[in-house]
Amino acid sequence: MSFVDVYPLSEEEKLQQFIDRINNGEKIEADDWMPDEYRMVLIKLISMHGISEIMGALPEKEWVPKAPSLRKKLGIMAKVQDEMGHGQLLLRVVEDLLEPLGKNREHIMADLFSGDLKFHNVFHMEAPTWADAGMIAWLVDGAAIMTQTNMLQASYGPYARALQRICAEEVFHAQHGESIIMALAEGTEQQRQMLQDSLDRWWDSLLMFFGPATAQTTGSSKQDLTIKYKIRTKTNEQLRQDFFTKYVPRVLALGLKLPDETMHFDESKGEWIYRQPDWNEFKKIISNNGPKSQSRLKLRITAYENNRWVREALGQKDIS
Ligand SMILES: [Fe+2]
Ligand SMILES: [Fe+2]
Repeated sequence: MSFVDVYPLSEEEKLQQFIDRINNGEKIEADDWMPDEYRMVLIKLISMHGISEIMGALPEKEWVPKAPSLRKKLGIMAKVQDEMGHGQLLLRVVEDLLEPLGKNREHIMADLFSGDLKFHNVFHMEAPTWADAGMIAWLVDGAAIMTQTNMLQASYGPYARALQRICAEEVFHAQHGESIIMALAEGTEQQRQMLQDSLDRWWDSLLMFFGPATAQTTGSSKQDLTIKYKIRTKTNEQLRQDFFTKYVPRVLALGLKLPDETMHFDESKGEWIYRQPDWNEFKKIISNNGPKSQSRLKLRITAYENNRWVREALGQKDIS
């Protein structure tokens, strides 16, 4: 019998021990004690991430039958499969967090269908041309790599380990996107115009992808909590600035025009100055009022219903 069994720790002592573990760089595991706030932050973050992987496969899936060559078709098919796999991996991580609350994957799906669980703004948007398929893989996956590598050292062990694998695959996705973009950039005038049009279409969505700048301006404390609990280190704005630093020179090197003519790097401030996207529009989009929100949700609901017999045959109602 241990000391702890004889003298159980008080809630404050457990919390202090938990904070000490995080501050010492220890990983928290699914069965470890954790404060409710930490559990809820993780559930929200990881279920949003997992569901976004699954919903994110939908705009690209539309391009599988229309890819311009067999090689490109194989590439985009593999990417769609990877994204679904990422979703499954992450939802497994969420299930372990939900279990003590008496909830399972059925609840995650129900929250998605009711609109309580949101998915990333970018996956509510249309992908009308092959250049959009390339833009998603190059810049949306590029942006996702930035936010996800920022959490590779997350204090929650199961999430950090899932991200190791996911990030490795995301790098392939970005390269696949870059090869589509390069081919178009070196192509005909019409292809170059298609590329520019798709960049213009995606620019604001890419800026929104990182979320509003700071808790102070939005009145939200969500991102503070992920930093407080060492789930991530950089803020939304720092990540957006990193994105600009990496991709603005690449966009310009392709001979493309930035859709924001005011954009420049301010040497004295050491940051990019840019035009803010419409954050009211962002709220509208993530509340399932984007151009493709309803049709993609409908597709997911149909797939979920069509697969119900498989879940029942396996006797595991929580497999989506
Ligand atoms: Fe992914
Ligand atoms: Fe990806």
